[in-house]
Amino acid sequence: MRSSAGAVADRHPREERDGPTKHEQPDRVAMLVKRKIGEASFGLVAGRDFRPETLSAIILAKLVKDAEVRIGPIKKAVITVPAYFDDTRRKATKDAGRIAGLDVLDILDEPTAAALAYSLQPIKSIGQRSPLSAVESQTVLVYDLGGGTFDVTLVRLSKNHFQTLAIEGDVRLGGKDWDDRIVKHIADIFVKTHDCDPREDNQSLVALRSASERAKRTLSKLPRTTITCSHRGKSLSVPLTRDEFEAVTKDLLVRTRFTCQSVLRQAGLTWDHVDRVLMVGGSTHMPMTGRMLQELTGKQPDNSLAVSEVVARGAALHAGIVALRSTADNNLLGAEARELLGDVVEINVNAHSLGIEARNAADQRINDILIPKNTMLPTAASRVYYTKTENQQKVRVKVLQGEAPEANACIPIGECWIDGLPPNLPNRSPVQVRCGVASNGLIEVLALDMTSGKMAHTVIHRANGLSDDEIAREAAFVRSLRIQ
Ligand SMILES: Nc1ncnc2c1ncn2[C@@H]1O[C@H](COP(=O)(O)OP(=O)(O)OP(=O)(O)O)[C@@H](O)[C@H]1O
Ligand SMILES: [Mg+2]
Repeated sequence: MRSSAGAVADRHPREERDGPTKHEQPDRVAMLVKRKIGEASFGLVAGRDFRPETLSAIILAKLVKDAEVRIGPIKKAVITVPAYFDDTRRKATKDAGRIAGLDVLDILDEPTAAALAYSLQPIKSIGQRSPLSAVESQTVLVYDLGGGTFDVTLVRLSKNHFQTLAIEGDVRLGGKDWDDRIVKHIADIFVKTHDCDPREDNQSLVALRSASERAKRTLSKLPRTTITCSHRGKSLSVPLTRDEFEAVTKDLLVRTRFTCQSVLRQAGLTWDHVDRVLMVGGSTHMPMTGRMLQELTGKQPDNSLAVSEVVARGAALHAGIVALRSTADNNLLGAEARELLGDVVEINVNAHSLGIEARNAADQRINDILIPKNTMLPTAASRVYYTKTENQQKVRVKVLQGEAPEANACIPIGECWIDGLPPNLPNRSPVQVRCGVASNGLIEVLALDMTSGKMAHTVIHRANGLSDDEIAREAAFVRSLRIQ
């Protein structure tokens, strides 16, 4: 049921028989779509200015098509996102699913999915109901280093109960950054040798990127490899050892280490409290990640499930949980699955603080935090604000995401208006604002003018979000493509 929107875009596009390859026509290939999800535009691909959602939808449509060959028609999906994705990116991911023609049952955090998969393994594979049945409660660190994003999450698992304690992450750190370091290393040597730079030509650069990614994978298994770089008729083969690779990427690994320490601090725990360390994501194949985690946590990290599949497995389990919750149909899943998933409780937290833009006594624009980071979901909080002028006609409620006290330093996720306020409203009339965050991280806002009892629109107008009409238009475009 899972398809991580955009995630597969980070992998090699299939070198199709009759389609463009990224070597021949790099301008017709889109990569790292997930990094741009939530932005208004991905940029030009094959001459069309694409929305990231639309590209994500094409990937989803391809996944659905492939899966349908094996399991029959698919209408619904659970789509996973990095835990650190904010509301805008979650909404865009959900829209991608809709553009692909899917009924999106839920948006699920990837580390939660991974924890589910590790905890609820099928009876057949481990010969017992669940590895948790013997354990009272465990605190688990999920370290997920993928192609473009990095997440660390602390989860408390007990029998049938999953609670996220804290989340930290980096939406701009992933395997791609390790590749880029090899690209730089090789290109610098090429420049010294041949006095021209392969990064200046798109085709040479794309070929070097591919070779670098392949070399990275080889170095996960072998202590050394060779990378060949060609540009303007000149060629160079550069040997690269794992030690050299680790040296030129050390600071990236250190960044992930800091993030692990930070998440632990936020949860108010020490490494002694952490029972297990789960490795997730293709980049955890790099031996340096496991070594760092062992040294940091004092625990042997667990990669017993295929690190590239574990999120998909968890999403499928979540889909089962959601389906069982939403129907009384006893034939929906087999007895074994119903017993395993029937009474699982999942509790998430919000990855970012949520605030309202307000003015302080000095008339500076501040982020007035309503729901602090790492609050258990679902949650809601309300606060009363006051109009700032006499006879004010409307009030703008601007919702911010972020930890900084200054409004400017936060991400504005959307706004709603209370307009048509009664005439002659005195200055400092009260307006109540209520913010809610659902279990899947999506946000709702209610604003109430306490004098007239008038309620503002509850829909957040997200700056880069798509309207229903735009979703329908993009969906028609995706349906018109020949996806193979
Ligand atoms: N054997 C390997 N050694 C090193 N890196 C690898 C190996 N196999 C895959 N990778 C890297 O893993 C990354 C992809 O991982 P994964 O499939 O978990 O990402 P994703 O879930 O698609 O992306 P994200 O989590 O960032 O959204 C790529 O950068 C790829 O180069
Ligand atoms: Mg991933």
